Amino acid sequence: MLLKREKIALLDTNPTPINYLPTLSKELGVELYIKRDDLTMFGGGGNKMRKLEYILYDAIKKGATTLLTVGGVQTNHGRQTAAAAAKYGLKCVIVCVDEYPGEVSANLLLDGIFNAEVVIKKNDGRDTGVQLAETIEKVKTKYENQGEIVYEIPVGGSDVAGVMGYYEAAVEITEQAKKIGIEDATVITSVGSFGTYMGLYCGFKNEGSPLKLTGIAILPFTDGHRERIMKYFKEIKEEYNLPFDASPEDFNIETSYIRGAYNNPDVTVRKAIYRMARKEGILLDPCYTGKMFAGVLGMIEEGKIKQGEKIILLHTGGMPGLYTKHHRIEFEKELIDKITILD
Ligand SMILES: Cc1ncc(COP(=O)(O)O)c(C=O)c1O
Repeated sequence: MLLKREKIALLDTNPTPINYLPTLSKELGVELYIKRDDLTMFGGGGNKMRKLEYILYDAIKKGATTLLTVGGVQTNHGRQTAAAAAKYGLKCVIVCVDEYPGEVSANLLLDGIFNAEVVIKKNDGRDTGVQLAETIEKVKTKYENQGEIVYEIPVGGSDVAGVMGYYEAAVEITEQAKKIGIEDATVITSVGSFGTYMGLYCGFKNEGSPLKLTGIAILPFTDGHRERIMKYFKEIKEEYNLPFDASPEDFNIETSYIRGAYNNPDVTVRKAIYRMARKEGILLDPCYTGKMFAGVLGMIEEGKIKQGEKIILLHTGGMPGLYTKHHRIEFEKELIDKITILD
């Protein structure tokens, strides 16, 4: 690996496997594989563990005693940060501008089990970025007044340290693909805060990997997001002296499969989740990986992915999302008939 940065070890399944999906491959006419980064296991698993290996090293080196991060109320990243904080004897506080979902379930439940505090600022209609910044400041001051050294982690752990997690994964996937004989495959990932996509992009490009990369946006993609992705790339290029440039067109991110909003219940996504579960026995989540797979099915149907193409789906975790109240209610309506009650 050409880039080096210190990290602590949080992954207990290394490398995570790449599995062939025989039934779906046959049905869909493509060669379908899945990279199981949901099996990172620690803290309930998921893509954030790779980023947190680098972020935690930095936090501990700087003497942090509390990790403060942000996200939606059901953030997977928050839950994984809480687990990492617990393991290293740090406090964790997760700040959200969101609604309380009415029950302590899914990631919100796991946050509490890991002993994290979750601060939910009710959205008052003003710019959410402003509300978030104000709330972070308030919470940070409270912790600092208690003698804590607070280390802030941005949404999704997508900063210059966190990006190394998926840079390293790019090297890992390239080696695995070579062994299997699928170096001409396309890796497909969901795209939220960009860290996963950007790490893979920089890793594939800088290490000369033959693998291709497609992102599928899971939330409305605005001009602000396009600016953010370019700014993020520039920060990374500067930090690591990357010998190449990038323009917005270089980032191959599909924006046609957002299905309305972030983390919204959607019947096409649930159908994609059922299909993966019922054909391959693998659970996807309704916010990220289910939406990504629904997008992949759409791309195959529309011919954007050609018959016979080799695809590696990146399973980024998120399984607790299935138990989120607003998703669970929709699943329940469709699945209640599968329950037989006998006297
Ligand atoms: C399960 C899951 N998949 C994918 C993503 C998206 O990753 P990124 O934020 O690095 O784009 C997230 C981010 O929160 C996630 O929790």
